Amino acid sequence: MLRSRRNRRTSPRLAFVAGAVGIAALVPPALRSLRGRPVFDRSTAAAGVSAQFDQDAASYDRLVGANPGYHEHLRLSARRLGLEADGAGAVVLDVGCGTGLSTAAIVETYPAARIVAVDASAEMLAKAREKAWPEGVRFVHARAEELGSALAAAGVEGPFDGLLAAYLVRNLPDRDAGLAVLVEHLAPGAPIAVHEYSVADSALARAIWTAVCWAIIIPLGWRVTGDASLYRYLWRSVLAFDGLTRLEQRLRDAGLREVHTRPVDGWQRGIVHTVLGRR
Ligand SMILES: C[S@@+](CC[C@H](N)C(=O)[O-])C[C@H]1O[C@@H](n2cnc3c(N)ncnc32)[C@H](O)[C@@H]1O
Repeated sequence: MLRSRRNRRTSPRLAFVAGAVGIAALVPPALRSLRGRPVFDRSTAAAGVSAQFDQDAASYDRLVGANPGYHEHLRLSARRLGLEADGAGAVVLDVGCGTGLSTAAIVETYPAARIVAVDASAEMLAKAREKAWPEGVRFVHARAEELGSALAAAGVEGPFDGLLAAYLVRNLPDRDAGLAVLVEHLAPGAPIAVHEYSVADSALARAIWTAVCWAIIIPLGWRVTGDASLYRYLWRSVLAFDGLTRLEQRLRDAGLREVHTRPVDGWQRGIVHTVLGRR
């Protein structure tokens, strides 16, 4: 009786995390330390990050689809941009759109908005283009750092009424320079949502992140693609990434105001965040 009452109180997050910690403990220590050096050379990894995404584009949707809450959290960050109603008249940038999952979140949230979705990986973008999109969605192949010239070459004019950068900023070799470019493309007063992992400010978040990576994400990535390098990169890059205090300060330094962070639910609470600001 007592046991069943206790079971009823176990939250899905706790159960997920407890499972992950348990399984992580079974991962052979050699495997855990083998390629998972805690020291992470961000500039080297970032230089090869688009190539790595090229390589894993085919399995990307399947893998992130196994992550509970992934799509809902993207929609949440899109909603947090706070654009008017269905987005009629607005033009929204989705930088680091990948296979279009964040683009889909914007479409679902603001079906009447026009969207310009940009990514540095040709293969990720090819996967995005294969999907059915409303007329107002356009894809541009470009690195965030070269956004201005790439948009001009594609005949796309800013400034934009909102910008979603989902899982992009961590991958930028020079985050301050990259953020400055993003901000430049916003209309005065327009909102930006940086949807990102950040665990550096919390020991608990770092522990949960490592457990989930080694119990689920890395083995699953290896099983599906036969090569888990992108998922080991994910683990390391998140550990090496800014804490929320640092990230918020970067956004302020880039000229944004009203900078603040909002959480997501699920096992990602305290790990994935929407960091918001306004030009
Ligand atoms: C983790 S995926 C996220 C994709 C999508 N936003 C989502 O939420 O599913 C990160 C994407 O950022 C892209 N990316 C990384 N560095 C970039 C850069 N400097 N400029 C543009 N895109 C970049 C990668 O090619 C990849 O498709």
